[in-house]
Amino acid sequence: MGIFITFEGIEGCGKTTQVVLLKGYLEAKGYKVITTREPGGTELGEKIRQILLNSNSENITSWTEIFLYEACRAQIVKEIIKPALEHGRIVICDRYIDSTTAYQGYGKGLDLESVHRINSLASQGITPDLTFAIDLKPEVGLKRAWARINNIKTTEREDRFEREGIEFHKQVREGYLKMAEKEPERIKVVDGDRDIDSIHREICGIVAKKLETAKG
Ligand code: TYD
Repeated sequence: MGIFITFEGIEGCGKTTQVVLLKGYLEAKGYKVITTREPGGTELGEKIRQILLNSNSENITSWTEIFLYEACRAQIVKEIIKPALEHGRIVICDRYIDSTTAYQGYGKGLDLESVHRINSLASQGITPDLTFAIDLKPEVGLKRAWARINNIKTTEREDRFEREGIEFHKQVREGYLKMAEKEPERIKVVDGDRDIDSIHREICGIVAKKLETAKG
């Protein structure tokens, strides 16, 4: 079996940059790495992503929303994550089950027990070996996320979650911190309010340790 690493955090925390950097680091060491993202990652998943993240879908209910995220997940696990892990690859996924717990559970208030149940069903029980929760104050993250969105000249902006109030994002952040407290071995909180390279070096150190343990 390969190794499964996920990246989590609020909008604008910088995780997508870190996914790319970690992939480069691991490939330079000779590992075969597959990166993917949620929602999306498969042909079907990318279509569902359009529905989920387009601000025109504003009257979607929280339950409809969670089932759409889980539908994406069921597909990405079956098509990409599970086969890659079975082939011994390192899989890095930008968001996964913990996003659902943080956003739909802690953020939107769906009961956590149900969220865990459907997460587990859609993911076929495949839990990451290591998860980085890049921690940042929502004030800082949202400022970054908006700067990025305003540079996109399209009517199909993926900005639905950025339009949620600051309180929502505070709940999401708190959710991640609580989850990390419950599962400190798997979920590593990394301070995202630093330069890109320092964050990258911390992440590489943790991954290197994990790879050592996996070997032994
Ligand atoms: P994305 O553009 O990938 O955001 P980011 O660049 O911050 O990763 O959009 C993903 C959005 O979907 C993000 O706001 C979090 C949200 N989301 C959920 O609410 N639940 C989920 O289960 C997942 C996977 C994502």
